[in-house]
Amino acid sequence: MNKIIKAVNLIYYSPTGTSKKIAHAIGDGLKVNNLLEYDITFGDISISSVPADSLSVFVTPVYGGRVPAQFLERLSSLNGDGAMCVPVVVYGNRHYDDALLELKNEAVRRGFRPVAAAAFIGEHSYSRPEMPVAQGRPDYFDLSMAEHFGKEVIDKIVSVPEIGELSVPGNFPYKELKPKQPVAPVSTDACCSCGVCIASCPTHAISETSAGEIITDVDKCTLCCACVKVCPNAARKFDTPFTKFLYDNFSERKIPEFFF
Ligand SMILES: Cc1cc2nc3c(=O)[nH]c(=O)nc-3n(C[C@H](O)[C@H](O)[C@H](O)COP(=O)(O)O)c2cc1C
Repeated sequence: MNKIIKAVNLIYYSPTGTSKKIAHAIGDGLKVNNLLEYDITFGDISISSVPADSLSVFVTPVYGGRVPAQFLERLSSLNGDGAMCVPVVVYGNRHYDDALLELKNEAVRRGFRPVAAAAFIGEHSYSRPEMPVAQGRPDYFDLSMAEHFGKEVIDKIVSVPEIGELSVPGNFPYKELKPKQPVAPVSTDACCSCGVCIASCPTHAISETSAGEIITDVDKCTLCCACVKVCPNAARKFDTPFTKFLYDNFSERKIPEFFF
């Protein structure tokens, strides 16, 4: 443990697990003994403040070029009290647009002091085997970069005497959010009602009727596609023309970016 940072808080929202993998790899690179993990995928963060001598790493997916509303809601009670933080976004190889700036600004608004930031790539939630978009990412290369990023963060904290304002890409006003379409993944005939999809849904949009049918509340569904990715029978489907658009236009591999 270094002199300045007494604990690291790894705080992430990750319906399909890619942000979680990046968070863990950054945590490995930070090489601290006192690492506390807060997975806010399924509920609010359990603390309202962090110690002033801790470092909080915020990791979130990018939705529509922005930070998902659920991430911000689940952190709403958290106060930084001047502690350092590292905002990190994970996007599906299209772009992160204003998400990193929004995450940084939100952290500052809650009293945190950003020291570094990063953007990583994860398999797109709408990637399908026949039309892959960043399939399998973060891969070995991404995770090595994430670990390296963690190491560089600690190096900066230890070596830079006065940490100035952090600049990250993005625009304000942020990209306008499109209204969500009244659609959701559906369970097809291959569904055996095992309930894995119900447990995977961060907004509790999926339930089983007394007749054993799996139904989805389209108003609660955020289209995160966690249910599609975890279904052991590939019985959950969400078909959108957007997958082909992404496949046609954003298949070229993007690489992680660091900001110090
Ligand atoms: C509703 C929604 C909107 C998304 N918007 C974007 C986007 O604007 N740009 C992008 O590159 N990826 C976008 N993605 C893809 C996710 O950012 C990406 O798959 C991420 O790795 C998912 O993180 P998770 O595995 O932690 O859930 C979107 C995914 C969803 C579900």
